[in-house]
Amino acid sequence: MDSQTKEKRICILRGSPRADGNTNELTDIAQEELESRGAVVTSFTLYDMKLLPCRACRICQSNWSVFGCPLDDEMERIFDTVMTADLILLSTPVYSWYCTPPLKIVMDRMVYGMNKYYGEEKGPSLWEGKHLALITTCGYPVEKGADLLEEGLRRYCRHSKLRYDGMLAERHMGYGTTFMDAGKTERAADFAAKLMTGLQG
Ligand SMILES: Cc1cc2nc3c(=O)[nH]c(=O)nc-3n(C[C@H](O)[C@H](O)[C@H](O)COP(=O)(O)O)c2cc1C
Repeated sequence: MDSQTKEKRICILRGSPRADGNTNELTDIAQEELESRGAVVTSFTLYDMKLLPCRACRICQSNWSVFGCPLDDEMERIFDTVMTADLILLSTPVYSWYCTPPLKIVMDRMVYGMNKYYGEEKGPSLWEGKHLALITTCGYPVEKGADLLEEGLRRYCRHSKLRYDGMLAERHMGYGTTFMDAGKTERAADFAAKLMTGLQG
């Protein structure tokens, strides 16, 4: 089976605390579209998981073939899924110009556990070549609300040897307003379709 016909695996990391909130509404539409195009999707709701922050012990740097983190939580499950995924889809509202705390925990744990750059000698990136993309929502206009998060992710991808496949960002006009509309629904489905096309190459 060549790379175009092989089943695509996608890991969605959901970082919104609101199960039926804006970011999850957009992400649900994208997930449906991905699945309708044959992707096998595993989705993690990070606020429901036990996830501890990186303690910078650097034990993960001593073994270049495993995640190797000694913290006792649910991160290993995410690591295993990411290792078999073609695309990692981050989903988060913007909080203080970046992602929410549990997604930041996962990003920190992976930037060390996946990138064996920080030991005595520089080792490999275990997730080199995987794709990464972002679905986000914010209160400011997108160019002022989501710009720093996107720039951070571009650098994160460059550093980790991941392929950055872009961002879907939508503005939330306030908690008294209805977030979803036909335009957002269409853009979420189109974004997912574009991600699938990017995985076929
Ligand atoms: C604690 C907190 C911090 C926020 N910080 C920002 C911010 O820095 N920039 C921004 O544009 N919106 C910010 N927002 C607005 C949210 O990003 C926006 O309402 C988002 O759509 C909420 O998504 P959700 O429904 O998935 O929770 C913040 C909201 C909260 C609750």
